[in-house]
Amino acid sequence: MRDYGTPYHAPVLCHPVADRLITDREGVYVDATLGGGGHTHALFDALGPKARIVGIDRDPEALEAATERLRAAGYAERFIPLRGAFSDMMALLGQTGYHNVSGILMDLGVSSHQLDEGGRGFSHRLEGPLDMRMDPSAAQPAADFLDATDEVELARVLRTYGEEPMARRMARAILRARPYRTTTQLADVIREEVPPHKVSGSLARVFQALRIQVNGEMDELRRALEAATELIAPGGRLAVISYHSLEDRPVKRYLRSGHFDGDVRRDMYGNALSPWRDVTRRAVVADEEETATNPRARSARLRVAERTTYEFERD
Ligand SMILES: C[S@@+](CC[C@H](N)C(=O)[O-])C[C@H]1O[C@@H](n2cnc3c(N)ncnc32)[C@H](O)[C@@H]1O
Repeated sequence: MRDYGTPYHAPVLCHPVADRLITDREGVYVDATLGGGGHTHALFDALGPKARIVGIDRDPEALEAATERLRAAGYAERFIPLRGAFSDMMALLGQTGYHNVSGILMDLGVSSHQLDEGGRGFSHRLEGPLDMRMDPSAAQPAADFLDATDEVELARVLRTYGEEPMARRMARAILRARPYRTTTQLADVIREEVPPHKVSGSLARVFQALRIQVNGEMDELRRALEAATELIAPGGRLAVISYHSLEDRPVKRYLRSGHFDGDVRRDMYGNALSPWRDVTRRAVVADEEETATNPRARSARLRVAERTTYEFERD
């Protein structure tokens, strides 16, 4: 099986995504998290000669890398790159003239390139400005958020988005060391606050929480799921790959019911009233071969649902 990894990013579950997302070989698809274009490349390889893919990313570096790769693969003419947030998918798609599509893919989180570039400030392992913005022109880098927040708010962010058990104490220690300029400055404060055997877990949780806050990831996800419900034609599919339970939970509930509480509404005869029919039931996970070569694949969970004819209602 072909490996779609590049130095920019090693995509996960490429073949399972292509197998489950494609319902019309000549349709229009959206890769809402283009990244290095690995999934888009895999989809083009599996699609017919008239199919088109719209690739969205809010990071201009991703659009550049993916566009170059897809041009080299001979897909440039059928690929439409768009810069923006996937929560704005409706408006972005409006620019293309496509109002209905056959399928949408969302591969959540950050790319390896974003993590590996110290200058982007995502990694506690690399020295760089404490930034973490996927879109470098967006409002508030992580350092500015820490400057402006208070202990209660930061503790909430650490608890909710990082599932950090010592959220209040950690928030207090972090705020005491303000102002922040670099990732290593923050990493050092965390290291001093916890015993050595807990350092790596705390670093991962705090950095994840700040990243989710800075990029508004949970709100983006909810709005994108609703936009996808409006854009995908009946019979078309939505595929979402998430990497932690915080993302997977709302995806699972929404793809089951069309509501974020996960409750399937029913008519008086007991028929489900949902814009989605779950295709995967259980999340698809990577096999041993893939997890052995791509550590990121270990936490990946793919869920796919098919759009029903039920009319969409926003929560
Ligand atoms: C895990 S990577 C995707 C990798 C891609 N599937 C591939 O094969 O290379 C996630 C990408 O989605 C982008 N992204 C994340 N959230 C986004 C959002 N709300 N709107 C637009 N792009 C987003 C990130 O900038 C990143 O490039």
